Amino acid sequence: MTAETSGTTSTAKQNRGGLEGVIAATTALSKVEGTAGRLIYRGYNIHDLARTTSFEEIAYLLWYGKLPTKMELVDLKIQMLEERTLPTGVLQVLNYLPPTAAPMDVLRTAVSAFGASTIQGKPTLDQAIALTERFPLILAAFHRIRNGLEPLEAHPELGYAANYLYLLTGQMPKEEHVRALDAYLVLLADHGMNASTFTARVIASTESDIASTVVGAIGALKGPLHGGAPSKVQEMLDAIGTEDRAESWLRDSLARGDRLMGFGHRVYKTEDPRAEELREMARIADPQQFALAHKVEELALALLEEQKPGRRLYTNVEFYSAVVLSSVGLPGDLFTPTFAASRVAGWTAHVLEQVANNRLIRPEAEYTGPIEQQFVPLDERQ
Ligand code: ACO
Repeated sequence: MTAETSGTTSTAKQNRGGLEGVIAATTALSKVEGTAGRLIYRGYNIHDLARTTSFEEIAYLLWYGKLPTKMELVDLKIQMLEERTLPTGVLQVLNYLPPTAAPMDVLRTAVSAFGASTIQGKPTLDQAIALTERFPLILAAFHRIRNGLEPLEAHPELGYAANYLYLLTGQMPKEEHVRALDAYLVLLADHGMNASTFTARVIASTESDIASTVVGAIGALKGPLHGGAPSKVQEMLDAIGTEDRAESWLRDSLARGDRLMGFGHRVYKTEDPRAEELREMARIADPQQFALAHKVEELALALLEEQKPGRRLYTNVEFYSAVVLSSVGLPGDLFTPTFAASRVAGWTAHVLEQVANNRLIRPEAEYTGPIEQQFVPLDERQ
């Protein structure tokens, strides 16, 4: 049945809008099982991948459809290494932007500048790799520029996660920080038809270029209902400060009608498996911050159950992301851009999947305005 013939019982109405439950594409990349609380990347359970693989391995899995052999991983790393510089034009853009600019806006602008200067034609895997490798370079260069420092040359011997940390500070990162960041990047690399991935696929479906798909996806990820939540989780933890203040802070927040950041999910109606991994990482990475976060989590879940009974609101990936990312030394406003530095692998893999079997994504809207109005020329209108 089309929207035109379906009358008032449209899908949008039945689903309360937001395309809830609508299958918008087929994908072999990742599957989110909301009731079971299960996430797989190409058939591999996220719990098996999180602790032992690197971001590069998972990017390979998403891009090529299989886990790499040692040699294949070396080849990918060599190709990524060859992309480990920023064009002068992109550095000029970073220097031109105000130091107070939000890093997510800077990332969006710099990716657009990078695309304008280097990317043409139909999306390719080489372009996906070139774009992905630029994310940490852009973020670290801007972070240094805004602090009055020169951007650094990338380190040729470090992997994706370690090079990012090195470029921010100029110090060789601690092994435990690299491992924590790598696990975070693995956990966030893809997640079914989330809002930013959908955005990327819509843009790809018009036969636009890959940089445009990623620029659009960054814009979608930025919002607090999607990837913008972890810095707000950090703000919440900072505002609460101590465990004894948590309950009154959370009650006041809910009484104002605010949403508690880091809780609830469109698909998961049980615990997000990524939150489970990140909780354990946070427990080890920063025991003090973990103690506060854990108390806040317990109280938030109890209050959400009390005040939103039956809504099945659980901890999502963003809650403990904040603790993990801050434990490796990232400032709060780099949390969401760092999420983007992981999800770009998923976005680009989805774009390549879309173009391989493309049909323009063009849904319909249910019109709710007036049907027949009498037109009155401007000079006769009252
Ligand atoms: N705090 C308080 N109440 C909530 C929350 C929350 N975090 N999340 C949902 N609810 C309530 C809603 O108010 C609504 O209540 P109502 O039925 O009384 O109106 C009910 O639960 C259902 O909410 P919806 O808005 O229908 O849920 P939806 O699927 O549209 O939203 C979302 C999912 C956006 C993630 C939501 O849970 C939310 O805003 N969470 C906070 C922001 C956040 O953590 N975002 C990160 C998500 S993870 C990611 O994108 C990577």
